[in-house]
Amino acid sequence: MKITFLGHATLWIEFDQYSLLVDPFITGNPKASGAIKIKDLKPDFILLTHAHQDHILDVEEIAKNAKPLIISNYEIAMHYEKKGFTAHPMNHGGSYSFAFGRLKYVQAVHTSSFPDGSYGGQPGGFLLEAGGKNIYIAGDTALTMDMKLIPMQLKLDMAILPIGDNFTMGYEDAVIAADFLECDSILGYHYDTFGYIEIDHKKAKKAFDDAGKSLYLLAIGESIAI
Ligand code: NI
Ligand code: MN
Repeated sequence: MKITFLGHATLWIEFDQYSLLVDPFITGNPKASGAIKIKDLKPDFILLTHAHQDHILDVEEIAKNAKPLIISNYEIAMHYEKKGFTAHPMNHGGSYSFAFGRLKYVQAVHTSSFPDGSYGGQPGGFLLEAGGKNIYIAGDTALTMDMKLIPMQLKLDMAILPIGDNFTMGYEDAVIAADFLECDSILGYHYDTFGYIEIDHKKAKKAFDDAGKSLYLLAIGESIAI
């Protein structure tokens, strides 16, 4: 499985013959829009954790061309179905086996409104069991005790956690989250995009090192193989 960081909370995940795009926000991110062209992105599936602008901005433009299946919570799925796209609705605690593997929509402590203020359901994260790997994509969330449920059900190969603070947990809380998740391999995201969420990379990496864990911070366009 190959995971490519496309800036902010946007991920491109490839394995077998499948491609999954998570939370596309590229044209609104000056750090990503130069390097990544959304017309080149033709995912089979788009996974959306919640309805905030910095997670859905480029969904329609990409979906118009690529015709992916959009997977999200019920309200977000219905929002895109109404606009003529194809979507699969989920809700917290529910799993479903797709062609590529199994997904579970899990709790996130955050909010979820569309840019116009309309209701975007409850925010979540995804547990992805696919390509022989188990990945947790946390979405925007605070540190939460519910994370302790995940290793009771799944041995994670990697956890993708927000570390930028202010709107989500910061890296200090993400170290505790990694403990709750019983996972030593963390990919950080949702940091540095805006002034509110700029972090000191060295301090963040040291906090994970000190806990015996690895924090990976990828440049935009950079990939990690797991
Ligand atoms: Ni958000
Ligand atoms: Mn966000």
